[in-house]
Amino acid sequence: MPYTAELKKLIKTVESTRAVRVERKKRGEEFPAIPVDQRSDILQKFHPDYREGNRKEIRVGPSKGYAISKEIVTLLEAKSRVDPAKIDLSEVDIETDILVLGGGGAGNAAAIIASERGAKVLVATKLRNGDANTMMAEGGIQGADKTWKDSPYYHYLDVLGGGHFSNNPELVYTLVTEAPKVLSWLEKLGTMFTKYPDGTMRSLHGGGTCRKRMHYAGDITGAEIMRTLRDETRNKRDKITVLEFAPAVELLLDTDGRCAGAVLYNLETEEYIIVKAKAVVIATGGSGRLHIQNFMTTNHYGATGDGLVLAYRAGVPLCFLHTVQYHPTGAVFPEQAEGLLITEKVRGAGANVVNIHGEQFVFEREPRDVEAAAIIRECSEERGNGVPTPTGKFGVWLDSPMIDMLEGEGTIKREFPGKTILFNRYGIDISRDPMLIYPTLHYQNGGLEINSDCETNIPGLFAAGEVAGGIHGENRLMGNSLLDVCVFGRIAGKTAANYVKNIGKQGKLSIDHVKKYNKEVATLKQADTPVSPMVLPDYSNPDVRKRQLTSNYVGTIR
Ligand code: FUM
Repeated sequence: MPYTAELKKLIKTVESTRAVRVERKKRGEEFPAIPVDQRSDILQKFHPDYREGNRKEIRVGPSKGYAISKEIVTLLEAKSRVDPAKIDLSEVDIETDILVLGGGGAGNAAAIIASERGAKVLVATKLRNGDANTMMAEGGIQGADKTWKDSPYYHYLDVLGGGHFSNNPELVYTLVTEAPKVLSWLEKLGTMFTKYPDGTMRSLHGGGTCRKRMHYAGDITGAEIMRTLRDETRNKRDKITVLEFAPAVELLLDTDGRCAGAVLYNLETEEYIIVKAKAVVIATGGSGRLHIQNFMTTNHYGATGDGLVLAYRAGVPLCFLHTVQYHPTGAVFPEQAEGLLITEKVRGAGANVVNIHGEQFVFEREPRDVEAAAIIRECSEERGNGVPTPTGKFGVWLDSPMIDMLEGEGTIKREFPGKTILFNRYGIDISRDPMLIYPTLHYQNGGLEINSDCETNIPGLFAAGEVAGGIHGENRLMGNSLLDVCVFGRIAGKTAANYVKNIGKQGKLSIDHVKKYNKEVATLKQADTPVSPMVLPDYSNPDVRKRQLTSNYVGTIR
């Protein structure tokens, strides 16, 4: 749906202030950033993480007492989808060295590296290989690969600053020092990054970065990286088998307490598949489809937090799940595009975020949590500066036409082909008109506790990518997630491959940990005990469907 007459009128106000804002930017005059010591005020008051009643303590399992989002607690305080008494472990359907759960960036990176180290790998994925948040990532991948004025040292400081200095420093060190290697690995595998005519990579700022180290492929960086990794997995089909539409529903341990496989569920035949493995890599991604606090989401359909549940039942503690990332700029108009990511690269390229009066109200490259909180505040009753949509929601303008004025005509079309095409379908030309945006649920900042070798506390169980926590602390910066999946996916592949070489004889397969967990859940005496993992969101259920809608935003509905 194109902009309505009412919205077109409001766009005139944005246009009326644009030339002055562009001139200011050309002179290098930026809107003042919120001082670091004042960030917590705006976060406490307006960021959804800090909203009263949003968190709940987990009452069972290894992180009992830890308060995290209620939606995740519900999945953790649930019983298994399978009746462990009915799972026959005497008959194994598939045997492999390494079982990788998840067909996103981390899963494929792990599989590629493990197979290169001689392991036989099975990748089991819920949907198709590549149906993952990696595919949906747009803006870029960070890496200090230029010696000029940047180094992993600055990258390290940015990651820590963005994460409120709470990150696990060893994981951050690994992330930033591996980054240049990952960029050259991806290039060698065939990722087509956007470059200058002389062949050097273009790079931009992201929110919270002190240097321009965001490498990208237009505004479809994730799709390009996922294409590369998926192709490479396919190239290695003598060593890597991919099983699609087969989500894991429980892990299997052996009688010595080591991870030894998983129970998969064939979505087509509705049969269980018992996989015995010497090691398991969990790379199942995030949980945006839980629509935490009823937010719309940028996440792919399968992002239902399954890996968290499986590993937690087996005894892996959780960390940093008390924070969730709301991307500042999700589409809020037209309604068909609700929740879709409008890459931060739009702001990195110079577009202001402006209110109904055409005024800039926040520096456009604040760390994500601060930027999102500032937008929510602008739309709140306290400020009342949100732009109403035809369906009664509120958003603010992301003034994309500034980019062509700053960088030359045609920049938008060249640098943002994905969004140009998408909005053209709705009759909106983003090089002429701004986009209407509001924060959207984007990333699971925390997850399973790992060390920098991707080991969990369970021998033989490794984790990488969005399912793991600690790297980004309480807030991830843009471009560090595509980096994270590649860095830690590769490490998980390497560690798992080394591990399987030396494990000796495995004990008998066991699912007793699930029996024990189910018993613990039963002590909660819930009226209606839920079942998890969720596997797929049920949008046929009106209660679930309505969670997707922005009309359920807290703070914007009047
Ligand atoms: O804004 C974006 O393009 C998102 C990138 C990210 O989450 O890393």
